[in-house]
Amino acid sequence: MSIERVTELPFLPERSQDAHKGTFGRVLIAAGSRGMSGAACLAGRGALRGGAGLVYVACPPEILPTVAAAEPSYLTIPLVEDLQGHIAETSLDILRIRAVGMSALAIGPGWGKSQGLQSLTRDLYEQIRQPMVLDADALNALAGSFDQLGRPHAGRVLTPHPGEFARMIDSDISTVQDNREDMSVDFAHRHNVVLVLKGAGTVVTDGKRLTVNPTGNPGMATGGTGDVLTGLIAALLAQGLEPFAAAQLGAWLHGLAGDLAAAERSQPGLIASDLPEFLPGAWKQYF
Ligand code: APR
Ligand code: MG
Repeated sequence: MSIERVTELPFLPERSQDAHKGTFGRVLIAAGSRGMSGAACLAGRGALRGGAGLVYVACPPEILPTVAAAEPSYLTIPLVEDLQGHIAETSLDILRIRAVGMSALAIGPGWGKSQGLQSLTRDLYEQIRQPMVLDADALNALAGSFDQLGRPHAGRVLTPHPGEFARMIDSDISTVQDNREDMSVDFAHRHNVVLVLKGAGTVVTDGKRLTVNPTGNPGMATGGTGDVLTGLIAALLAQGLEPFAAAQLGAWLHGLAGDLAAAERSQPGLIASDLPEFLPGAWKQYF
């Protein structure tokens, strides 16, 4: 199998003068649970600074006021909560209905682990007609069952860190780290998805093309930085980039925001909420 190595960044046109928010799409982020409301806030910020026209955050009602207060630009959607404060399986109908008007979805950050999430995630993966980013607990929920998934209606971008990827394919972290490119390409090819294997030199592949992201630094090894990437890639999907291009540009902008943040605030001093703040600087280097 010959793999095309991509080095050039994808093209996103500059905004035309008469553009309006509808031009840049609606992103729905389903994230967060009790104790992890920050994951929803960070993914939402990533989507906003990624240029989405409108960002909806769907989460359990318990944390909704916290999420709404974190960012006035969010639209919020209350889901159904189970007794542990996780999203209940019955949230599927709400998400299915609200997805209809969306350009892209992102699911999983801060969901936690619970029984209902397995069938919920599987149903969303198979039934939602929009492109979708799956991260963190959405990937944990599907671990071991990728072979049984039906073919989705639109692009699926999966953004595991090495630990999540190891769980997904029933391997271990050191095997994954020793074979980052081969295992990513193999998975993406077999399951017809875009795989973003995070960590130093993030690998992005759709099974035919591959790129290793040159931006980013160890200052980004701090809780919540991955959640920002999830929202950012969803925003790029909403603006019309195809899944591989959205993942490639998202990883590049995210890492560059981290490099700009580290230059000003140091690597140890970098925190996840710095990344959305430094995304405008990264965008300036793109255009
Ligand atoms: N060099 C470059 N980039 C790095 C480096 C590094 N040394 N270390 C981390 N990063 C980047 C990764 O590429 C990725 O984009 O920081 C981000 C870290 O993302 P995650 O590993 O998903 O971490 P986090 O956001 O804290 O995850 C939050 O979700 O994935 C679960 O278990 C995780 O509960 C945690 C939550
Ligand atoms: Mg993560």
